[in-house]
Amino acid sequence: MQRPVLGNEWLIDVRDLTKVYGDGPTAVHALRGVSLRVRAGEFVAIMGPSGSGKSTFMHVLGCLDRPTSGSYRLAGEEVSRLSPDQLALARNTRIGFVFQSFNLLSRTTALENVELPMLYAGVPREERLRRARALLDQMGLGERADHRPSELSGGQQQRVAIARALANGAPLLMADEPTGNLDSTSSADILALFRWLNRERRITIVLVTHDVTIAAWSDRVVTFRDGLIIGDRPVEEAVPASVRAGVPSMAAARGVRA
Ligand SMILES: Nc1ncnc2c1ncn2[C@@H]1O[C@H](COP(=O)(O)OP(=O)(O)OP(=O)(O)O)[C@@H](O)[C@H]1O
Ligand SMILES: [Mg+2]
Repeated sequence: MQRPVLGNEWLIDVRDLTKVYGDGPTAVHALRGVSLRVRAGEFVAIMGPSGSGKSTFMHVLGCLDRPTSGSYRLAGEEVSRLSPDQLALARNTRIGFVFQSFNLLSRTTALENVELPMLYAGVPREERLRRARALLDQMGLGERADHRPSELSGGQQQRVAIARALANGAPLLMADEPTGNLDSTSSADILALFRWLNRERRITIVLVTHDVTIAAWSDRVVTFRDGLIIGDRPVEEAVPASVRAGVPSMAAARGVRA
């Protein structure tokens, strides 16, 4: 069911979301009534202390987990009403996931890692190879397509993971501490890539970080505490100018990527 995307429609529209793990006296109320709307094309950073519910929220947004209560409309569709098959399809075609630990298959090449989601989606082999190579080229990894993850640097592995996340044309990229295992140079490289994808490819990005220098790359900073959103501000208000000054311009960042 294809619907026109109107100017006032939200890509993500979450209302009063709760998530309780377990029950009885040991139940953990990880989300306690979260509401958030994100438009297509936004670059949002999610911040907050450890245990505040950021990953739980990302798992629900990414359709990896179902909420206990509340509503989540993804591109206008109520996710809780989707059948398991429809949910899997939404997850595979609408959302790309990038994790701190890359989560690549270790025994397969970069190319095969990028092909995998397309294999699940039933994309024919020729098309898979063509798209996977094009994506790896875009990530600056054309020469590394036949290498296994162990033969790549952390930054390169994360770029393979980003190519994989985009393989089925997802308009939405979710990243949970994507630079947590990277040194500062590789982090800047990955963040420049995210910004390029956001600005040039119109990919919507939701990125979890505990680091304000990383949030500085986004346009909007949403802050969690104890399972609730306690702040939602433009980056200019949420991040001090001195920290934002550390973010290179698009042109300079392209230099970093080269
Ligand atoms: N599968 C689970 N079963 C039980 N409790 C869980 C589960 N996953 C998370 N929790 C609990 O839910 C709360 C929120 O956890 P969550 O992982 O969302 O926090 P976070 O903000 O991502 O933290 P961090 O910054 O450390 O990654 C925590 O109290 C955590 O212990
Ligand atoms: Mg987390």
